[in-house]
Amino acid sequence: MSITRRKFLQQSGMAAAAIMLPQHSHRSAPPMARPVLDPNSLAPFVDPLPIPKVLHSTQLRPTPGNPAVKLPYYRLAMRQFQSKVHRDVKPTRFWGFDSSLPGPIIESQSGKGILVEWANELPTSHFLPIDHNLHGADADKPEVRTVVHLHGAKTMPESDGYPEDWYVPGKSAVYHYPNEQDAALLWYHDHALGINRLNVYAGLFGLFIIRDAAEDALNLPRGRYEVPLVLCDRFFDLDGQLYYPVSQYPKFPWISELFGNAILVNGKLLPYLDVEPRKYRFRVLNAANGRFFHLSLSNGQNFHQIGTDQGLLSVPVPLKMLTLAPAERADLIIDFADHAGGEVVLRNDSFSPVMQFRVARKKVADESSLPSSLRVIPKIAESQAVATRNLMLVEIDDLRGDTASLLLNNAHWKDPITETPALNSVEIWNLMNVTDDAHPIHLHLVRFQILDRRRFDTFAYQNQNILRYRGEPVPPEPNEAGWKDTVRADPGMITRIIIPFQGYPGRYVWHCHILEHEDNEMMRPYEVEASLRA
Ligand code: C2O
Ligand code: CU
Ligand code: CU
Repeated sequence: MSITRRKFLQQSGMAAAAIMLPQHSHRSAPPMARPVLDPNSLAPFVDPLPIPKVLHSTQLRPTPGNPAVKLPYYRLAMRQFQSKVHRDVKPTRFWGFDSSLPGPIIESQSGKGILVEWANELPTSHFLPIDHNLHGADADKPEVRTVVHLHGAKTMPESDGYPEDWYVPGKSAVYHYPNEQDAALLWYHDHALGINRLNVYAGLFGLFIIRDAAEDALNLPRGRYEVPLVLCDRFFDLDGQLYYPVSQYPKFPWISELFGNAILVNGKLLPYLDVEPRKYRFRVLNAANGRFFHLSLSNGQNFHQIGTDQGLLSVPVPLKMLTLAPAERADLIIDFADHAGGEVVLRNDSFSPVMQFRVARKKVADESSLPSSLRVIPKIAESQAVATRNLMLVEIDDLRGDTASLLLNNAHWKDPITETPALNSVEIWNLMNVTDDAHPIHLHLVRFQILDRRRFDTFAYQNQNILRYRGEPVPPEPNEAGWKDTVRADPGMITRIIIPFQGYPGRYVWHCHILEHEDNEMMRPYEVEASLRA
């Protein structure tokens, strides 16, 4: 197996103004097969920001495996529906939970379990380009398959949405979420093997909020002053329909990365939100397949990040620019008090508008607070780790130099399991990225802390198995110094994370959250082993 890391610049047939060239590209789409909608041609800020509705449970049902205990029960159906992404764009076909994009919000309390029935009520044929060469997407598999994973949840394996546990239209699965974890913003999304990128692109995702007493006591902005912002990028064709590009090889339509030119916030293109001149709490999720967002405010004002993937940080972190990798979450406080009567634009990459805040003129009392300390996060000592695993992030190219697949430690999805941490043990995983791209790496079940990142000689490591550092270890950014479940493994760096494997024994997965990578081998099962001494 020859491994090269050649870079190809994309030859895009699109006008540069209409499409931002991706920063990098391996197997990307050829000149667009179809012309795509240019969001710059649309009137900005004409649609109000939609706020996803909160789902309410109306009944109790027995817990599977423990029928004496009855828990609040929810049912969410995945359906095809039409929605307008912008006033001047025709309705778009999506697949979404409860016919909405994002799906409704499930809110629960830490320690209070719930049941969710995830029902597949989709059509039986897919409307996005399946690549039958990918694992689990063989031509003999049903086209439409779904399985739902609750990202960031500490869930038993049978309710975790294992990628091979998919089911077809007309079927459903009831999952049990114990919610025995701290307050955090989680999200549910499809996880079907080999077509996950297409199902999520079609719209199959939504938010899940866990609250707890410690967070409630902080007096953060709440009610209508707490606003979810779910960001994702897409391409639309001139009829307003979702467009998922394909490679130039008709038999291998898979592309290694997708950077859509249209950014949706809660399912709208360039929406606006009326706000009062006071503090707001924004619960931000990057639900994109592969785009990293770099968010800032047009007036250059500071904002504060108070939480990350797995809940509150220990102290608020002032920021002017927030980087959010796919699947990462950020809990933000933005204070509009000094901007009464003004307009503030949330921008990506310093220039593209994402949405607008229209600040009311009338001063209001703001009783909410931005506490100077949020919670105690004990640092896990490296000495607690019983094992350290070196795990290489690898890109495999074909003879043309195009990306063929991406691997975790040179292993494929189907290879025997190699990561078998013991339940309740602590391990250090060294994510050794020898590729030229950042990969957001996510582990199911657990939360972890970032130890550091350190530049190393990727060539020597990959080809001669020699570990040679090229710099000093860099501690995590202040806004990463909390509990995480997804971490940016930067190119040419070893990213070290320390992970307590708490929860349940059984089979889970870890993977890159660039969905095009995950669908093409950059995902591996791992097994938490019941500890013998328990
Ligand atoms: Cu957000 Cu394995 O997923
Ligand atoms: Cu997950
Ligand atoms: Cu990746």
